[in-house]
Amino acid sequence: ADRLSAKQEKTLAMIKPDALQSFGSILAAVEAAGFTVGRLRMCHLTLADAEGFYAVHAGRPFFGPLTAFMSSGRIVAMELLAPGAIRKWRQLLGPTNTATARQEAPNSLRARFGSDNTRNACHGSDATETAAQEAAFFFKQPVGRCCTTTNTSLAL
Ligand code: PPS
Repeated sequence: ADRLSAKQEKTLAMIKPDALQSFGSILAAVEAAGFTVGRLRMCHLTLADAEGFYAVHAGRPFFGPLTAFMSSGRIVAMELLAPGAIRKWRQLLGPTNTATARQEAPNSLRARFGSDNTRNACHGSDATETAAQEAAFFFKQPVGRCCTTTNTSLAL
């Protein structure tokens, strides 16, 4: 009842290519933390898709490596609902830099599944407006090469 009556917030979470094989463990952490999973999509982003998603970082030195990495393999995008979902999910993620996460938040998802600043396992929206934009990016239009079908000709 508490879970239904408390005001729900929505965030957009992504499992990045480096952590796709840890999908089960990450979903277990999502469930243990009390999130409800809303819409979910698995796909392989093109470079142009990744550049669109991270457009706010265009021009930053890490933009090239980040977008190359994010289009290097399949990702899972999902809406997570909970009271205070945006902060709660970023808390579970831990610091952006995996090395910092290992120091400061050893149980966080980035500490457990990330490798560095770029290959850091998961993404989470940073504010209400970006959560809505990022959800629209994945769920209001076709994006990436869909990998949820059984079409084995898709490049994985
Ligand atoms: S910032 O500076 O606050 O805007 O950065 P932040 O929001 O923490 O992260 C920006 C995203 O870019 C990825 N990335 C890097 N950030 C900082 N430094 C380096 N070198 C770097 N390389 C990649 C970082 O993982 C963030 O990705 P998301 O998916 O948003 O978590």
